[in-house]
Amino acid sequence: MATTATTATTELKYDGFSMLLHWLTAALVITLWALGQTLDFFPKGAPRLAALSVHMVLGMLVGVVVLVRIGWRSSAGRRLPSADEGWLNLLAKAAHYGLYLLLVLTVGFGLARAWVHGLHVFNWFTFQRPAFATRAVIRTISELHSDLADLLVIVAAAHAAAALMHHYVMRDSVLRRMLPRRRAG
Ligand code: HEM
Ligand code: HEM
Repeated sequence: MATTATTATTELKYDGFSMLLHWLTAALVITLWALGQTLDFFPKGAPRLAALSVHMVLGMLVGVVVLVRIGWRSSAGRRLPSADEGWLNLLAKAAHYGLYLLLVLTVGFGLARAWVHGLHVFNWFTFQRPAFATRAVIRTISELHSDLADLLVIVAAAHAAAALMHHYVMRDSVLRRMLPRRRAG
């Protein structure tokens, strides 16, 4: 019985807008993490500041995408029943809510990092450095942003591995729930 229920629920699909937001978030997070890791390879001065500005703009964009996703999910967006049961279900739920939390925190501490450094975003605008931004505050916020970004990518990698396990090992349709339908013929 349990198997039938699981099969039936995994035949469902997310709506197109949820899929778009999911894959946009994934692409942005991977790009942001890679760019964050390689910022030091850009020559000091204008090239590095431009790369950092791109990082900050894309970072703010992922923040907007995640907020839209949370709003869409809690209103018109399709929410699917769990594809797993028992402890696997708990693990999947923890990973999904954990990913949303890590996304919000990483973006939040990214913004805080730009603020305490008083950074310029291209020549569009400048974060006004606050008076409390001592060296210790800057170091703590910078470390939190880096550590949260690393943790986000680790959890996302485990989450992606679980989706691939479902597809290739358990051979169910969990991954296809998040993939656009193939055209017939
Ligand atoms: C940085 C990368 C990623 C992030 C931040 C991320 C985040 C998320 C989140 C938060 C959910 C929960 C959706 C919801 O119920 O609202 C989700 C679902 C899902 N993700 Fe990802 N994801 C990422 C990458 C991937 C990759 C690479 C794959 C596939 C290889 C994948 C496959 C899936 C699938 C199949 C679901 C639906 C699971 C289900 O219905 O139980 N994700 N993802
Ligand atoms: C999910 C979103 C984000 C991810 C995954 C991410 C990832 C990273 C990574 C991996 C680094 C390098 C860490 C280090 O070595 O110290 C970094 C640095 C940085 N990030 Fe982000 N970031 C995100 C969003 C943001 C946002 C929204 C902002 C600000 C608007 C921001 C501002 C910065 C700044 C200022 C640095 C320091 C660059 C430097 O001084 O070399 N990030 N980020």
